[in-house]
Amino acid sequence: MPPLRVNISPMKLGAGQLFEIYLDCSFGVICPPELIPSPGQYLLAHAGGSDSPLAVPVFFSDSAPNGFRSAPLRNIDWQPGTRLNLRGPLGHGFSIPQFARKVALIAFDESPARLHGLISIALRQGSEVVLVSNSIIDNVPEDVEVQPIQAMLEIYQWADYAAFDVGRENLKPWREKFGRKEQAKSPREAQVLVRAPMPCGALAECGVCALTIRHEWKMICKDGPVFAMKDLL
Ligand code: FES
Repeated sequence: MPPLRVNISPMKLGAGQLFEIYLDCSFGVICPPELIPSPGQYLLAHAGGSDSPLAVPVFFSDSAPNGFRSAPLRNIDWQPGTRLNLRGPLGHGFSIPQFARKVALIAFDESPARLHGLISIALRQGSEVVLVSNSIIDNVPEDVEVQPIQAMLEIYQWADYAAFDVGRENLKPWREKFGRKEQAKSPREAQVLVRAPMPCGALAECGVCALTIRHEWKMICKDGPVFAMKDLL
C-alpha cells in the first residue's frame, strides 16, 4: 500500500465557538479574525469532543459580531456553545473585478448563502446586484433585486460579472444552460463555486473532491472551490 501523502502547507489553526443557530440551519461562529473565510473560501471545523472522524467544511455567508455567519449546514448536531477546532481559511474564493457594475449572483441548485458575502463587496464598489435563487434568505439588503431561477439566463446576459454556486453533480445541466452557445452573450467575467464533499481539505489528498477539467484532475478543496467559468466549459 503506498504511503499516505500529507501536505504540510502553512495554515491557520484555531478555536471557535458556535453562538447561534438560525432557522435556515446556518450557524453563528465566533472565531479569531484571521480565520474568517472570504466569500467562496471555507474552514474545516471539527466539534470538540465529537467522535466523528471527519471535519465539516464551513462557508462564509455574512458578517457577525466577533466572527461570521456560516452558510447552512445540514445533519449537524452542533448546539450553541459547541466548541470548534478550526483550520483555514482554505481554497480560492471569489473576487469581483473592479470594472463590474452589474453583478449577478446565481444559486443554480441550492441556497444562495455562499454568494451572500459578495453583496456588500459589490454594493461598496457601486455595483447593481441581482440575486437569482428559488430559496429565500432572510438578510438580503433592500438594494438587491431578487429574481427566481427561471430568470437566470436573462440576468446572466445582463451582468458584467456573474458568480455561481453549483453542486458538482449538477455541472452537466449547468453546462447545458450556460455552455458555449451562451458565450457570445456572456458577462466579461464569471466564477463558479463548485460544491462537493471535502473531508480532508487537501491535507491527505483523499481525492473525494476530484473534478476533471480539460482532461486534468483537479481537487475542488485546493484548486477551487471557486473556478473561472471559462475553465469549466
Ligand atoms: S477533500 Fe481530500 S483531497 Fe480534497
